[in-house]
Amino acid sequence: MIEFGAAVKREFLLESGVAFLNHGSFGAAPSAVLEAAERWRQRMEANPDLFLREILPGELREAAAELARFVRARPDDVVFVDNATAGVNAVLRALELRARDEILATTHTYGAVRQAIRYVCDRTGAKLVEAQITLPVADAGILFSAVADRLSERTRLAVLDHVSSPTGLIFPVAELAALARARGAHVLIDGAHGPGQLELDVPALGADWYVGNCHKWLFAPRSCAFLWCREDSKRELHPLAISHHYGEGFTAEFDWTGTRDFSAWLAVVDALRFFDRLGAARVRAYNHDLVVTAASRIAEAWQTPLDAPAAMHGSMIALRLPPRLQAYGPPTRDTAGRLQSALLAEHRVAVAVMALGDALWARISGQIYNTPEDYEKLLSI
Ligand SMILES: Cc1ncc(COP(=O)(O)O)c(C=O)c1O
Repeated sequence: MIEFGAAVKREFLLESGVAFLNHGSFGAAPSAVLEAAERWRQRMEANPDLFLREILPGELREAAAELARFVRARPDDVVFVDNATAGVNAVLRALELRARDEILATTHTYGAVRQAIRYVCDRTGAKLVEAQITLPVADAGILFSAVADRLSERTRLAVLDHVSSPTGLIFPVAELAALARARGAHVLIDGAHGPGQLELDVPALGADWYVGNCHKWLFAPRSCAFLWCREDSKRELHPLAISHHYGEGFTAEFDWTGTRDFSAWLAVVDALRFFDRLGAARVRAYNHDLVVTAASRIAEAWQTPLDAPAAMHGSMIALRLPPRLQAYGPPTRDTAGRLQSALLAEHRVAVAVMALGDALWARISGQIYNTPEDYEKLLSI
């Protein structure tokens, strides 16, 4: 049994002396998985023709099948994409939107996803409608109502976060997907933080599309993510780069979008093995307990609220920063970015700082390599 905390941190390349409490932004991959990706690259370089023409297609489908098993999906419904952004864009660009159609998101939708929605709206005359999420949130029913109340007969697509970026709040996506689809809207779940953080049965969530990052909570190398599509929503969906296999079906089109480095996708098998060796339930329990215990302690010391009850989170949670840090500047993206950089440079602590509503908030993550001592640094700033 691999011991969590300082012992397992040695399996990562993380710099010592930095309290890395921001697994949520970009993840961190263990050496064993990075080495597996390097082995794939070497195999590819040894005989590029043989590898890319004859070995890759089968290996890629094998890797997709293992990932599909992990999220309880059918292999033919799962394709790799580079990241959640790419998957979300593929879906948004596939929709034939008309003027006055609505795309429903929330005020906590990830910024890059909001921009992609704005882009398709600008081109078509469709409208972005944002459900207001106000912190702190008392329970999941409030999240449900906030979104449900903004569904209309014009809603063509609801973009739902599985785990929201600024706070780590888990949204009631299955309930919302059922409601939205019953009202005739398509549903895209942005599960950038789903795989590895939550136990997943993707088809059971009842959406049209699910996008999940493997390079965050599943320990895959960066640029490894997947897009799941229900059978009857596949016809219109194409990758952003159209290539040789246009018209040959969902997996054929996405599996080859031009020459690229496939190592991160192929190494997902090793990430899944690493995860399996740790024990999925054990990882989730360690991360959740660690981060909510730390968050309660810090919130008490700072005399500030958490974003929502602990049970509404997986491995991330947000806290309102205390007045002395609010004084850093007005609650804007720019101030948040500058404060985040200063905390890392001056205090050697990596946290995500967000401007939400009228205040600055810090989102902390819990991951197997963290210990309670990592969070102590936040008490002293
Ligand atoms: C909710 C959400 N969606 C999408 C993304 C984008 O992920 P990526 O940068 O891997 O495309 C993020 C990144 O943190 C996110 O939190």
